[in-house]
Amino acid sequence: MKVERKTIPQEEIERQVQICHVLFDRLTAGGVQPLALVDTYGCQQNEADSEKLRGYLREMGCGFTEDEFQADIIVVNTCAVREHAEMRVLGNVGALNHSKKARPGQIIAVCGCMVQQPHMAEKLKKSYPIVDLVFGPHELWRFPELLQTVMDRHKRIFAAEKNDGAVAEGIPMARDGRVKAWLSVMYGCNNFCTYCVVPYVRGRERSRLPEEVIREAEALVQAGYKDITLLGQNVNSYGKDLGLDVDFADLIRRVNAIPGDFLIRFMTSHPKDATEKLFRTMAECEKCAHHIHLPVQSGSNRILKAMNRSYTREKYLEEAAKAREWMPDLVLTTDIIVGFPGETDEDFAETLSLCEEVRYDAMFTFIYSPRVGTPAASMPDPYTREEKQKHFDALTELANRISAEKHLQYIGTRQRVLVDGETGRGEYNLSARTNGGRLVHLQGDSALIGRFLEVEITGGNTWALYGKEVTEDG
Ligand code: 5AD
Ligand code: SF4
Repeated sequence: MKVERKTIPQEEIERQVQICHVLFDRLTAGGVQPLALVDTYGCQQNEADSEKLRGYLREMGCGFTEDEFQADIIVVNTCAVREHAEMRVLGNVGALNHSKKARPGQIIAVCGCMVQQPHMAEKLKKSYPIVDLVFGPHELWRFPELLQTVMDRHKRIFAAEKNDGAVAEGIPMARDGRVKAWLSVMYGCNNFCTYCVVPYVRGRERSRLPEEVIREAEALVQAGYKDITLLGQNVNSYGKDLGLDVDFADLIRRVNAIPGDFLIRFMTSHPKDATEKLFRTMAECEKCAHHIHLPVQSGSNRILKAMNRSYTREKYLEEAAKAREWMPDLVLTTDIIVGFPGETDEDFAETLSLCEEVRYDAMFTFIYSPRVGTPAASMPDPYTREEKQKHFDALTELANRISAEKHLQYIGTRQRVLVDGETGRGEYNLSARTNGGRLVHLQGDSALIGRFLEVEITGGNTWALYGKEVTEDG
């Protein structure tokens, strides 16, 4: 069957890389290595996008810095999911005034989801004259060209037109870590949950071809990565747009077949696309972590309907139970929005009772934030911020209590963990993750980073477990 989707021709990406090399000569002409700062807000998809921005910048000869006063090029990769993230971005971009004054040639670019909203692009144009370049997620593949135009013409560029999006392969990436890697398998979202801005800024769902995903996963395993997270806004609808008879479960099976000792994770899943086939595949594929992040958003059917979530509380509970039948050791996490327009005490009580019933390992809780242009933003919202805050606090307390109870149950068990970094803190200097993704603090040599270890869990609280390596002689 023919695959119908917009792809960026390979020659176009090659042309962007060539532009990087032209800029390399220019930027390094003074004999000093240029420095770039990439500041990332929001989700893992944005982290993955920033790795592409850094990939291009590295091709231009740039090194990287965290200090805006040292940077020749600053790229702020933004998020639009909640107002709070946008306010932080605007505050931080405004503060770049000082570094730009100190380094007049400094180029400041702002990209990502926030600027794909016309009112935000306009705001940057009018009120943030220090910003030289603005581009939305759909233009990321041509960042070198946009940057070159800013440098050649000495004028501000705004590139964030409305766009359904395309798939671009072959953009160079400079990855952040050496142990864990993000692997985008699809982009965009078709769900239009009524509170969410993502479908407006990231375009329609489009999957990468399975062979492209497999090629990238093989390269990651070859390069020694031990923990690969398959990413998509709605990852378990992977393949629906391809017409190739490959769904997300099939993709997991194909990644699982790659030889090597590594873990497969994925996020984020939508309950409407979480099938028994997916749970069975997770259970049968030995490399697939037994963790599913399954955002429920609310426990009230009335609110779920108003959110356009396409499932009921009962269907969700059934699914969670089914997933645990296949994987009794499953780690289940979720996202919840408190204070959706019109959410009553009764609706909220339904959310609490659902959480008590499911007993999530961890919950990410948010107070509803109205987003321009989404249907929920024009729904009547009679409840005050204080009322919503009260609900939020009650939910946080419940979430913390359950997480702590679950973590205490680990004490005395043995877990296979992947050591992924240093904590920079005292006695427990290493951090690791269990198969289900729970954080474990350990003591040990930093040479253990990137290794799987058997540990005994010796302690735990709401946020983390503590463990010690099990050695051969006990
Ligand atoms: N307000 C608050 N939380 C939101 N989320 C998405 N949109 C909004 C919003 N407008 C939350 C959802 C989603 C998570 C990534 O962010 O819970 O799952
Ligand atoms: Fe937003 Fe819903 Fe799509 Fe998630 S599934 S990105 S919450 S519209």
